[in-house]
Amino acid sequence: MSTAIETFTMPLPDDFHAHLRQGEGLKAWARGHAGQFGRVLCMPNTLPPVASAARLDEYSQELARAIEALPEEERFELLMTFKILPGMRAAEVEAMARAGAIAGKYYPSGATTNAADGPRSFDEVEEALAAMETLGLVLSIHGEDPEAPVLDREWAFLPKVARLIERHPRLRIVLEHLSDAESVRFVERGPSNLAATITAHHLLYTIDDVIGDAMNPHLYCKPVIKFARDREALRAAVMSGSKRFFFGSDSAPHLRAKKECGAAASGVFSSPSALPALIALFDSVEGKAGREKLVPFMAERGADFYRMPRSTRVLTMERAEWLVPAEIGGAVPMCAGQPLAWRVARSTARSWDIL
Ligand code: NCD
Ligand code: ZN
Repeated sequence: MSTAIETFTMPLPDDFHAHLRQGEGLKAWARGHAGQFGRVLCMPNTLPPVASAARLDEYSQELARAIEALPEEERFELLMTFKILPGMRAAEVEAMARAGAIAGKYYPSGATTNAADGPRSFDEVEEALAAMETLGLVLSIHGEDPEAPVLDREWAFLPKVARLIERHPRLRIVLEHLSDAESVRFVERGPSNLAATITAHHLLYTIDDVIGDAMNPHLYCKPVIKFARDREALRAAVMSGSKRFFFGSDSAPHLRAKKECGAAASGVFSSPSALPALIALFDSVEGKAGREKLVPFMAERGADFYRMPRSTRVLTMERAEWLVPAEIGGAVPMCAGQPLAWRVARSTARSWDIL
């Protein structure tokens, strides 16, 4: 008697927030998304930043070359963003929209990796924001106030977002990588042009996993992973099926030496394991019904908010244990060395064999 492996087929998810990086890292790390995501919104905090049409062209070509190296069935579509820098002119925003950008990213100065050049207030980028509102580009915000204590930084930033919404009522805004319960309530109560991404690591972990019994630099990210009550609010937001919340991995690989040192860089390299880990999480909460709730979160709401067609490709996952590699391209992925209960079915994801 053969025991059939349990499978779960879903529309191919999209990732509306990821750092694919550049150079050697990009080639190795792009495989983390391969075969698991159909579209990936690529963040612009490269060096130099993506902040002109010429740089956007150059970076999208570099990304495209890395994607072409993947097996055809695993390739994903690249969605481009630019970094909003102080004093950015409307003409530059228009040129970047023509070059294919669908969103501009606001990083408060000093808030995170490669953000020293960011604006100190929305006033410093008013011309760019007005142009984005007119053009229908999405404003993607790293919502943290770098002046506030680190665990308070996200909710401390919310009044600035409230004022921005009043000033630009037609601008579509995404608060990225939500991490605290207060922000979840803020997004739920906000207007329909406000949405938020949620990562796998903020749904899976609490601050005790980061600095509890031992310090794990591979789970250190901005915004810092918070308390169990915050994680509960994030899980409830996803489970509720609300249109306001969709998946953005914020997968942010750093070389091991940049994480395991006296001044660890922030960022969790989650793309290889995020989807299997989330399926296991939602399965553990509500079984098959829980898994089904990942579909709007990972494959529908983001596309709807960004006004794109929903995914037409499908992905089959199977309940078969696999070990997350200890290291990929010199970076340590989320759940490194741990067994996960779900994996991409072999027929749809060849790169798992060669990672
Ligand atoms: C990201 C990175 O490393 O680029 N780091 C992080 O901690 N999340 C940048 C970001 O999204 O904040
Ligand atoms: Zn990010």
